[in-house]
Amino acid sequence: MKILVTGGCGYIGSHTTLALMDAGHEPVLLDNLCNSKRTVLQRIEALQGRIPTFYEGDIRDGALLERVLREEQIEAVIHFAALKAVGESTRIPLEYYENNIGGTLVLLEAMKRCGVRTLVFSSSATVYGEPASVPIREGFPRSAHSPYGRSKLMIEQILEDLQAAEPQWSMVELRYFNPVGAHESGTMGEDPQGIPNNLMPYITQVAIGRRPQLSIFGGDYPTIDGTGVRDYIHVMDLAEGHLKALEHCHGTGGVHTYNLGTGKGYSVLQVVAAFAAACGHPLPYQIEARRPGDIAEYWADPAKAERELGWQARRDMAAMCADSWRWQTRNPNGYEA
Ligand code: NAD
Ligand code: WQD
Repeated sequence: MKILVTGGCGYIGSHTTLALMDAGHEPVLLDNLCNSKRTVLQRIEALQGRIPTFYEGDIRDGALLERVLREEQIEAVIHFAALKAVGESTRIPLEYYENNIGGTLVLLEAMKRCGVRTLVFSSSATVYGEPASVPIREGFPRSAHSPYGRSKLMIEQILEDLQAAEPQWSMVELRYFNPVGAHESGTMGEDPQGIPNNLMPYITQVAIGRRPQLSIFGGDYPTIDGTGVRDYIHVMDLAEGHLKALEHCHGTGGVHTYNLGTGKGYSVLQVVAAFAAACGHPLPYQIEARRPGDIAEYWADPAKAERELGWQARRDMAAMCADSWRWQTRNPNGYEA
């Protein structure tokens, strides 16, 4: 299948591109490189033996999208392109709504004009807000607490409204839990710009000595050891989840929603211990105040994806840490080097 991958040079998009190519599909990448580097294309080429077609451009450019959809004879779209930093979204909400929601509207309109009616959307566990209980199932009530989270929730609602009006659309909402890890080759991984917002990239930079210590946000949560608990999922498991979801849902009509998580929760201290085992030395950390907006603990119930898609996360926390560490040690400056 020929698939347009928006945001295809980013962290999850690039790993999903590998999974699509492995399965014999033909991804066509479109990215404005606002949070990624062109070098990733050479890394894909080194692993796959060929470079995927790439358009440098913006999803808000409807004429470009239409040209790509028609000329490349695209059959389905996997839509990763978005701004994704929760904290930043509270400072520049208009940019988040404009890029994420505005960009998705332009994409949907272009798809409609070109008769492409399968969309796999990168949603997030953030659309569950503060869940009443764990594990989280897809039918749980939705709410969001940041402009970023609201942009994801509103896009889900837009997809649902469009599908209700035009039943031939196949919409897939994939709610990711906490994606971490890197390709096992050590040649592709997460390359955050500036100070990392998320736990795993921060840990890897402490482990390699780029940052002096990890600040653990809160040691007094009602969890196993007082630190926050999350469902970390290996990025290659996540990538394979996209493949299964696309193959299962393409052309079926309807809205299909899946949690992509492992179903297991790890505390911050458990992740720190697992990473220390992977890198072979202890990591300096200090327990500090809670981060505003954080939730004590949540993890997925991934049973629906397992039942309907035949997909299950296979890689454990040891693999997530080992692969992150391999990527970091071989690419201390990310894709810059
Ligand atoms: P990323 O920033 O690495 O990738 C996003 C890519 O989209 C980048 O390459 C960026 O340059 C591109 N992009 C952004 N705006 C664009 C635009 N207007 N036009 C064209 N390209 C544009 O992020 P990621 O971690 O790979 O996340 C991918 C998707 O998954 C995002 O939609 C994100 O919200 C969602 N998501 C991520 C996480 C996570 O923790 N990483 C969790 C849940 C959901
Ligand atoms: C994990 C745990 C922190 C950094 C975010 C978004 C969510 C989704 C995934 C996009 C928490 C603790 C972190 C640090 C720490 N993204 N932590 N020190 O907040 O669960 O989810 O990314 O959709 O929407 O909110 O991920 O990696 O930031 O935090 O102690 O330096 O690690 O408090 O318990 P989070 P995270």
